[in-house]
Amino acid sequence: MKIDNVAQTERAFQVTWTDQSSSEFPFIWLRDNDPHELHPHTKERTFDLTSVPIDISPASSNSDADELRVLWPDREDSSRYEAAWLYAHQPGVSRPDPCNIKRVGWTVDDMPEPHRVDAKACERSPEALLDALVLLKTYGIVLVENMDDDPSAGEKFGELIAFKRETNFGVVFEVMNKAEPNNLAYTAGALPLHTDLANQEFVPGIQFLHCYRNSATGGGSTFSDALAVCEQLKIDYPAYYKTLSTTSVPWRFHDSECDVRQRRPVIGLNAKGDFRSLTLNPHLADIPDLPADQLYDFYAAYQEIMRRTRAPEHKLEYVLQQGEMVIFDNLRLLHGRESFDPASGDRHLRGYYIEHNEVESRIRMLSNE
Ligand code: OGA
Ligand code: ZN
Repeated sequence: MKIDNVAQTERAFQVTWTDQSSSEFPFIWLRDNDPHELHPHTKERTFDLTSVPIDISPASSNSDADELRVLWPDREDSSRYEAAWLYAHQPGVSRPDPCNIKRVGWTVDDMPEPHRVDAKACERSPEALLDALVLLKTYGIVLVENMDDDPSAGEKFGELIAFKRETNFGVVFEVMNKAEPNNLAYTAGALPLHTDLANQEFVPGIQFLHCYRNSATGGGSTFSDALAVCEQLKIDYPAYYKTLSTTSVPWRFHDSECDVRQRRPVIGLNAKGDFRSLTLNPHLADIPDLPADQLYDFYAAYQEIMRRTRAPEHKLEYVLQQGEMVIFDNLRLLHGRESFDPASGDRHLRGYYIEHNEVESRIRMLSNE
């Protein structure tokens, strides 16, 4: 887009474009984002905002179709703002981002099984890996099949995306029936639908569970989309939704090595007040310490959301096969498993986490390729 005309007001330039639309560029914003004051290599801002008055205005300016030139009182040479750059950065217009992927809530009718992608295709082709990550963003879950029969195949796949998150369970955790478990996941018992590590300051973003062995009887996986559940809960029971998004619940994991606690509501909202995340973990909920007169209302809401996530239309059941890996959004989906009989065969899953930021970064890098 080219510049048609530039008018100056008390605090801003009003740029009219050749299509006759117009945009306002406040002086302080232009000064702060002066292209000359971005580091030539890192492109980071080097300008110090506190070095100029908030009501800074140009000493002089001029423009043509391709650029706006401004002489600021604190600089010796003019700052040049290209028309294309100004158009791409108009205040109030959000910039294109390959990670603005619409999240589609689902029930089991919509999606009886997770979408599948091929491990070898993702290794070979950036497009296939990008498709997999877009499915993950859209539905909160994707299933990778055709992994090598190697215990480290799952963690190697993660290296295509980014570095892993370390927690008190290590970088990669072994999910199997253990002699002295410090966690219900390390038994053969059932795990109700839950969020992993609701007790952490930053709840791990994306979870990877590689199924290395699954020949035991039982042990089917369950998943439930909290985005779909919470949208409906907000309509049916707004008071419960409010309780769950405002009541600070204590969560805790403790064993002989650590005691990690954090408080947060069950439903997390974004800055606009819309659903962002669900953190719900029956086995990591610390003893609720709310005032007695709030406990009944809290329990009513907490029980209702648990029931809804487990309703047949929301609870997706799938038995992971050896050589498959499920990847899911730990802040959006709840996951669980049925009990299994450890005497009947081998069940060995290997898990790890990568944060949302890193997955999004990979989506942007792959989109730019
Ligand atoms: C876990 C977990 C699921 C499974 O380790 O947190 O949920 O299928 N495991 O064993
Ligand atoms: Zn889990």
